[in-house]
Amino acid sequence: MPSPVLNVVVLAAGKGTRMRSNLPKVLHPVAQKPMVQHVLDTALLIGAQQLQLVYGHGAEQLQAHLADFSQQHGVNWVEQAEQLGTGHAVQQVIPHITDNDTVLILYGDVPLTRPETLQNLLAAKADNALALLTVTLPDPTGYGRIVRASNGAITGIVEHKDASAEQHLITEVNTGMMAADGKALKRWLSQLDNNNVQGEYYLTDIVAMAAAEGVHIASSQPAEIAEVEGANNRVQLAALERAYQRRKADELMIAGATLMDPARIDVRGNVSVGEDVVIDINVVLEGNVSIGDGAVIEPNCVIRDSVIGAGARIKANSVLEGAEVGNSAQAGPFARLRPGTKLGEGAAIGNFVEVKNTVFGMGAKAGHLSYLGDAEIGAGANIGAGTITCNYDGVNKHKTAIGAGAFIGSNSSLVAPVTIGSMATTGAGSVVTSNVADNELAVGRAKQRNIAGWKRPVKKDNK
Ligand code: UD1
Ligand code: MG
Repeated sequence: MPSPVLNVVVLAAGKGTRMRSNLPKVLHPVAQKPMVQHVLDTALLIGAQQLQLVYGHGAEQLQAHLADFSQQHGVNWVEQAEQLGTGHAVQQVIPHITDNDTVLILYGDVPLTRPETLQNLLAAKADNALALLTVTLPDPTGYGRIVRASNGAITGIVEHKDASAEQHLITEVNTGMMAADGKALKRWLSQLDNNNVQGEYYLTDIVAMAAAEGVHIASSQPAEIAEVEGANNRVQLAALERAYQRRKADELMIAGATLMDPARIDVRGNVSVGEDVVIDINVVLEGNVSIGDGAVIEPNCVIRDSVIGAGARIKANSVLEGAEVGNSAQAGPFARLRPGTKLGEGAAIGNFVEVKNTVFGMGAKAGHLSYLGDAEIGAGANIGAGTITCNYDGVNKHKTAIGAGAFIGSNSSLVAPVTIGSMATTGAGSVVTSNVADNELAVGRAKQRNIAGWKRPVKKDNK
């Protein structure tokens, strides 16, 4: 027999009424990513070869959000027009299950399951036709209970609403996630009925069917409860967000970062840190961010899709997007680095400086109150306070080139396209419209006149 194909079924048909939202429940985000996207990403991490998404409510929105992923990874969209139960949901996938598949069933509103936990579940299933992911909860109210015989063998799952008083005492519950052989699963699914308190087709009824066939039902457990928790309302969603953020904070600390308060950092993407990084409070990291050894991020910074070099310091209240900050470079406080900013080693950007699509050479500085866009600034250049690159003529963007060691006087307007040579100087307050050669001084401002004998006006009598 060829080795089994891992066929992952994600249930996402529910409406999620309790979210009180126009957005389908599974699209509500944890760390800025839809819950169902977390589930699909995890499925890929464990080597899913086929992905089935059972959808019902909010089809258009789901398709809009997942279009790129779906196309890239060949998601099979399976409609469950009416939500008649979890068993009914999986029944819709029967035409897309082959006998040789290993089918893994996941829930689109349970985003925090770790890949290792699912790998353990698949390992438990290996030699058995069915394996369940179960968890023991201090308060099992509402969950399906795992029923075991006196020898410990699983014999069935009974839903809370169908359970006896005695069964209500069982604290081992069904997470809903399970792995099954394709052939057996199809057989069991075709035998489901809805003779129960809720009048639903329960997926969980397949467990008693398997037991009746003499199948050994394996089980495994997650490392932490948050891995199997779903969100039915925004309170639970916020709890998942915190659980996720705590996990991310722990990962950063394990990797060598000191977090001044692990409860006051938010990671919304892929972040890597070197050793001895220090991240102060209220820092938000989004997209792909890497922070080099010994770098310091001061409080209240937002850093998106950026690379921070070793020993760099991002001072308080700075906002970075698409920036590369070189080793030992500095930015802030109150700096704004926009896409295409590259700071060379030891470069320094001060307060209220906005930089866009601009390369700063080694050790170059812009200390205060500037807009620098579409510019190339040579090593060691000094950009005075209030300097503006006038890069936009209302139609096109133009480039400003500033040579190494240049000194741009305060309040200079550099009207692009313009080139300022190396070691050149511009006088404060200059409007520079033509190129300045190396070592030259450019002064482009009205000449000062002093008027001797000038009399200040005197205040007129108030009548
Ligand atoms: C289900 C389990 C229960 C388990 C619990 C864990 C059954 C019968 N019960 O109960 O044993 O303890 O999950 O949370 O399986 N869905 C569909 N189509 C449907 C019905 C549900 O796609 O027709 C999806 C929902 O969107 C949701 C998931 O399946 O993501 C679970 O459905 P839900 O109604 O929450 O099941 P529970 O009653 O909580
Ligand atoms: Mg539920």
